[in-house]
Amino acid sequence: MDKILTKNIAPSNEEIIIVKAKGSVLWDKKGKDYIDFSSQTLNLNLGQSHPLLISAAKRQLAKYSFLSSRFMSTPFLNLAKTLVRLAPKGLTKVNLKLTNGSDANESAFKRARKYHKKPTIVSFYFSHLGETSETISASGKHFKNRSYIGGSQCFAFFHPPHPDFIPSAKSIAEAERASLTELSELLEKRGDICGVIVEPIMVNAGVYVLSPSYLKSLRGLCTRCNVALIFDEVQTAFGWLGTFFAADKAGVTPDILTVGKALASGFPLAAVLMKEKYDVLEYGEDEFTYGGHPVSCAVALKNIEILEKMNLAETVLEKETFIKNLLYGLKNDYPFIKEVRGTGLIWVIDFDEKKSPRSASEIYDRAIKNGLILRKSKDGEGSALVIKPAVTVSFEELTEGFKRFRKAIE
Ligand SMILES: Cc1ncc(COP(=O)(O)O)c(C=O)c1O
Repeated sequence: MDKILTKNIAPSNEEIIIVKAKGSVLWDKKGKDYIDFSSQTLNLNLGQSHPLLISAAKRQLAKYSFLSSRFMSTPFLNLAKTLVRLAPKGLTKVNLKLTNGSDANESAFKRARKYHKKPTIVSFYFSHLGETSETISASGKHFKNRSYIGGSQCFAFFHPPHPDFIPSAKSIAEAERASLTELSELLEKRGDICGVIVEPIMVNAGVYVLSPSYLKSLRGLCTRCNVALIFDEVQTAFGWLGTFFAADKAGVTPDILTVGKALASGFPLAAVLMKEKYDVLEYGEDEFTYGGHPVSCAVALKNIEILEKMNLAETVLEKETFIKNLLYGLKNDYPFIKEVRGTGLIWVIDFDEKKSPRSASEIYDRAIKNGLILRKSKDGEGSALVIKPAVTVSFEELTEGFKRFRKAIE
């Protein structure tokens, strides 16, 4: 099979054909089961094949399968209203005619640029904002070799607030101050900046959680300098943190907020929420054919209804406490685990690769062999493994998953 697939999508290890999945468990064609701590592409907040989502999709398909932008579907309109109701106060406009997180971030860039009439967006080194030319250009992880892939290149970068990125800082507080100073100098020095985009949790960089006080300072700085503060919540929205948005948890309202991944819990859909003044694009500037797909919108509405009914904050807190105990147990037993970081249901295990008998990549492969799906972090090259289980994962699955994790490490 890998002979016809392009090398970016061909599996790097043994091909696993999945034939069935339910919740957080998948089965391959040999009948072997896998507990999924990755929520696949870090997007299945309610796990696989949730019965209520299946019914919502079927009900919508039986009515009609697709409508062009000329005709508004009821789920599309209802979802728009629901998102504005749930969004941080002040984000009163929404565009749902988007499919991927990359579309949503590009929409945010276009809006900030058009409103402020300036081209440059500031982003973190090591950020991951998507894979279109423009979002690769914006992603700090491609900082060194992004030019060959195109995009406007109208981006400037600053360091995330953690000593791993600012080695001169001795603590997170020091790193936060250094990062804010760097941004403030950038904003002062350059007259061409229209916005600052951050991921409130930098998941792909290795699960670095921006503190509420840092986000509040960013808010203040962007307001003072009259640039848009953009939160990329593609990873953080819809459940993993016990709130609908990371912005709620931090108590900070950005000017523009982007969502994708878990919005429709496994169906393609993305959205951008904004303050009214950023509603500046015309027809033909920000709609994609499959954006706002009625089936995805119907599933997204049901997804939100399920999250609203489940007492999300308590559910996530209970599972977070359980996961933290298991993670700190691992760290205690294996001294080559340098750090565990995270919040809610998004965590990383960072190995000290000089001391660890096995690399993170080897542990990842062994975990799959033992029936546990983890996620490689730091773009698959680093020393860390991410876990982001579904909100619906059971305590039994967590316990069994961690048993398999230990077997993979040993
Ligand atoms: C923080 C963040 N933003 C944007 C994206 C891009 O989303 P998509 O792959 O749906 O375009 C991703 C994807 O992993 C992401 O993690």
